[in-house]
Amino acid sequence: MILVTGGTGLVGSHLLYHLTLKNDAVLAIYRNKERIKNVEKVFSFYTNDTDSLLKKIRWIQADITDIPSLNIVFTNHITQVYHCAALVSFNPKDYKKMRRVNIGGTRNIVNFCVDNTIKKVCFVSSIATIGDSINEKFINEENEWQDSSNNSGYAITKYGAEMEIWRASQEGIDVVIVNPGVILGSGFWKEGSGKLFTQIFNGFKFYTEGVTGFIGVKDVVNVMIMLTESKIKNERYILVSENKSFKEILSLIADGFNKKRPTIKVNKLATKIFWRIDWLVTKLTGKDPLLTRNSAKSSHNKSYYSSQKIEGALTFNFQTIPEVVKGICNDYL
Ligand SMILES: NC(=O)c1ccc[n+]([C@@H]2O[C@H](COP(=O)([O-])OP(=O)(O)OC[C@H]3O[C@@H](n4cnc5c(N)ncnc54)[C@H](OP(=O)(O)O)[C@@H]3O)[C@@H](O)[C@H]2O)c1
Repeated sequence: MILVTGGTGLVGSHLLYHLTLKNDAVLAIYRNKERIKNVEKVFSFYTNDTDSLLKKIRWIQADITDIPSLNIVFTNHITQVYHCAALVSFNPKDYKKMRRVNIGGTRNIVNFCVDNTIKKVCFVSSIATIGDSINEKFINEENEWQDSSNNSGYAITKYGAEMEIWRASQEGIDVVIVNPGVILGSGFWKEGSGKLFTQIFNGFKFYTEGVTGFIGVKDVVNVMIMLTESKIKNERYILVSENKSFKEILSLIADGFNKKRPTIKVNKLATKIFWRIDWLVTKLTGKDPLLTRNSAKSSHNKSYYSSQKIEGALTFNFQTIPEVVKGICNDYL
């Protein structure tokens, strides 16, 4: 049986769609039943016949930080695990919780995989765990993690989670790790990259010129399945279709909605002032920050990622980012 963690999130729900196309049964864990509606919504972007595929998912309520609930999950003769569950946050307040979920939760999953001699684990990490390039060269899998005060809590905990996955490989489990760039996909309009689509649709006018790697969610999950079904093991792969500036991405989204492109450039000084004011507001009101020191900084960083390794390992063409954005805008509308 295949197990998916994080099935109610962006990556997990698209993954479940593609897995149910190929398999008779898939096990997925959830925490809150309401969130399963996200999966139904995502399936409806692909097909009108959602029922027959949704029926193939067996849902078990479990939290990756809760060992008794995982104990029940792992009584189901699991052979492969797609570990997508994580807490994704750039709010410094969530750091301890992220350590518990991202590192501690992955440790639990790894321990159960070892105890149950699972055949293969596919883990979704992030480009956040890959070191910066020297001399503005393309960043690849050889760029090692560097300890720095610039690392976000999210990056630190995803790196810690990767270490747990490498431990699994040392304990005899075949593992593959994917390190996607910013993942663009339909269905989660109020969270993560989905918010970009909602903001542009509502007339957001600002942009920065920072550059990073982007990829469509369908490509992420198809590569995950191909890697897990292949003989490849104990490798990690950057998944980036194109490196683009935030300005380019926001403009593509605006074009997809037939809206005006963002016109107001936000420079480094403005973001520095804004995150400090926002920090003060957060302290006074207890609200979640709109911008943190790390996210303000990374909105101006220019990081270019290489996909050469994955392109050499699999026969696969990534969708271009304009194609990805166009498809998502159509789903949104
Ligand atoms: N989105 C991106 O741009 C991006 C880029 C690179 C890498 N990634 C990685 O891709 C993976 C999936 O991200 P995503 O965008 O799909 O995130 P997401 O939409 O926020 O989904 C996160 C999933 O993890 C689950 N989860 C969180 N804490 C859990 C816990 N304690 N126990 C069990 N499940 C828990 C959530 O369940 P609930 O529904 O109950 O909250 C949800 O299903 C993550 O590992 C993330 O680090 C994402």
